[in-house]
Amino acid sequence: MSSPALAVHALHAYYGESHVLQGIDLEIAAGEAVSLIGRNGAGKTTTIAAIAGFIRPRGGSVAVSGTDLTGAPPHRVARAGVALVPQGRRIFGDLSVGENIAVAARPIPNGWDEAKVMELFPILARRRAVRGDQLSGGEQQMLAIARALVRNPTVLLLDEPSEGLAPKLVEQVGDVLQRLRATGLAILLVEQNLGLATQVGRRVLVMNKGTIVFTGTPAELAAHRDVEARYLGV
Ligand SMILES: Nc1ncnc2c1ncn2[C@@H]1O[C@H](COP(=O)(O)OP(=O)(O)OP(=O)(O)O)[C@@H](O)[C@H]1O
Ligand SMILES: [Mg+2]
Repeated sequence: MSSPALAVHALHAYYGESHVLQGIDLEIAAGEAVSLIGRNGAGKTTTIAAIAGFIRPRGGSVAVSGTDLTGAPPHRVARAGVALVPQGRRIFGDLSVGENIAVAARPIPNGWDEAKVMELFPILARRRAVRGDQLSGGEQQMLAIARALVRNPTVLLLDEPSEGLAPKLVEQVGDVLQRLRATGLAILLVEQNLGLATQVGRRVLVMNKGTIVFTGTPAELAAHRDVEARYLGV
């Protein structure tokens, strides 16, 4: 059996003395999407930061396609095939759409390039020469996803891509993520938007205070109203 695209085992991470991640386990296969949901401060971004190499875990392991990357710096994790769509998008405001894409590009044969991401997001083609800071929130989010795709990742991490988007745009992001999953990408979707999380994720993990308190399919989660009420406030 081949290794999962992303395997995280018993991950522990701290900010100073504050023990934020208390043993996180998750595995994502190629072509699979997993949603990680939970309230503000649950530890979702910290999980992504520990996977992407922005913080060094104090216990547990992170492996990408069977390669151990525990504690590796961000550039090594990126080179191993992990791309991040960060919370708040963080595109370059003083660069144009085209330049934002160009600086991220890591071309491979038959992979994602500028032409392909602009087919996926036609609005970006029309806004190609526009500065990042002149884009709407939705356009910035699409650019953030486009920028991650041209890195040609095997694992895509997204941190609350629906934040600040109108419902119609959230739906569009969901459609795009489903299409990307069908191309064989492994997707970890961090969200507080339950609708998007259950539309995209084949499995949903609910996080609270640095631990995973529930794992199941969207249908199983829907059958556990108590989980939703306790950990998501819906
Ligand atoms: N740089 C930091 N230094 C110290 N504590 C931090 C830091 N970043 C986050 N924390 C704390 O770690 C915990 C987890 O934060 P994290 O950002 O991972 O939550 P989150 O689930 O992503 O929340 P949100 O949905 O608001 O983005 C919180 O208690 C937060 O206050
Ligand atoms: Mg966060």
